[in-house]
Amino acid sequence: MVAAERAAVRLICAECGIAYPTDVPRYRCSCGGLLTVEQPLGALRGVATRALFDSRLASRARIDQSGVWRFRELLGDYDEASIVTKPEGRGNLYDDARLTAWAGVGALWMKHEGENPTGSFKDRGMTVGMTHARRLGARTVACASSGNTSASLASYAATAGLAALTFVPEGKVSAAKVAQTIAYGAKVIQVRGDFDVAMRLVQEVADTPEYGVYLLNSINPFRLEGQKTILFDALQALDWRVPDVIVLPGGNLGNTSAIGKALEEALSLGLIDRMPQIVTVQASGAAPFAAAFAQGFAPGSYRPVEAHTVATAIQIGDPISYPRARDVIRRTEGIVTAVSDAAILAAKAQIDRAGIGCEPASAATLAGLRALVAAGQLRDDCTVLAILTGHLMKDAEVVAAYHRPDPHGERPGANPPITIDPTLDAVKALLDGVDR
Ligand code: F0G
Repeated sequence: MVAAERAAVRLICAECGIAYPTDVPRYRCSCGGLLTVEQPLGALRGVATRALFDSRLASRARIDQSGVWRFRELLGDYDEASIVTKPEGRGNLYDDARLTAWAGVGALWMKHEGENPTGSFKDRGMTVGMTHARRLGARTVACASSGNTSASLASYAATAGLAALTFVPEGKVSAAKVAQTIAYGAKVIQVRGDFDVAMRLVQEVADTPEYGVYLLNSINPFRLEGQKTILFDALQALDWRVPDVIVLPGGNLGNTSAIGKALEEALSLGLIDRMPQIVTVQASGAAPFAAAFAQGFAPGSYRPVEAHTVATAIQIGDPISYPRARDVIRRTEGIVTAVSDAAILAAKAQIDRAGIGCEPASAATLAGLRALVAAGQLRDDCTVLAILTGHLMKDAEVVAAYHRPDPHGERPGANPPITIDPTLDAVKALLDGVDR
């Protein structure tokens, strides 16, 4: 694209409206507000169309096969040759009658973002964030993480040939995610403290120019640009039919913010004709957003908490994108709710048993949906798109703990492995007693 068009993409402060250029690293406004990528949409009307995006589904070009870059007109202005892609964004859209009935809704589609190259939705934001890091000439990229961002950052940094630093809360990240991050070659720095402590630390590191570190957490507005494509991709898979409700888990609240921005843009460009309701579900032990929502987002209603939940991906007590996500919930007349760890694990067992599988944080969606329908806050005939954010194998410890022997029937669907002697008699005795 020509320089004049490139200059049209800016960073805008959501609080005071000041604009900044995109060619200098910046994560916050000088007033402290969060920044958003703004691209004039007028020039895209009649260009960024359903027909264009649909035509790319038949293309073999890597850039078209990416469920992120297929929507590249909506992501800014990158030269194709500079794009760091695997490609990503190609997860299935599941529609399982048992899960629809269990949720108690009219229709339920589950977009599986855990089927991304590193097993989580973070790859969508990372392909754009890493491409931008390269444009800025960054040599080292960094993030704080509850495990998925770090794995994604490590993998994309390896692809791009950049050094990667990841700050993770010591002892609070699943073993698989730490292993993945190490294996892809990033430095794993285990911080004594929780996610929120690690998040504050990495921001200080990124704000110290002599370290030359580019921050790729979801405070980085280019990450959110990539995550917008979850919505575009899911809508395309639904033949551009808009569901009544979109439900997703909430941790640092980047995804709620990104999907809200995507909806505004899709509406403005005529890709969709109505706004669905966004439902963000938190774990009840890590629910400052749900608590603020319960008080109508009144001034003073947002209070950081010390977070505790089995869903370690969303064990976050002071989400960085709170103001953006609050505005999205207001705009879509959405709902924020919280569910217990037991409810998350019961919902996860349902998703797993349907042959789909996901990590605990992702299952908060189904748990929240079921609870809201049961409470009459959502209609039982509503159509729903749920975002499954991470893969089943991301957290094998939780699976093993859930499926250990369950003599008192406390864990619905518990399916412990059975150990036998290597004889046919042992197999026969077993099969005679097993309900197949
Ligand atoms: N689900 C999974 C599997 C996650 O890893 C995360 C966030 C979320 C949901 C919440 O998304 O932060 O946009 O509200 N994981 C981050 C990480 C914090 O470091 O991997 P959010």
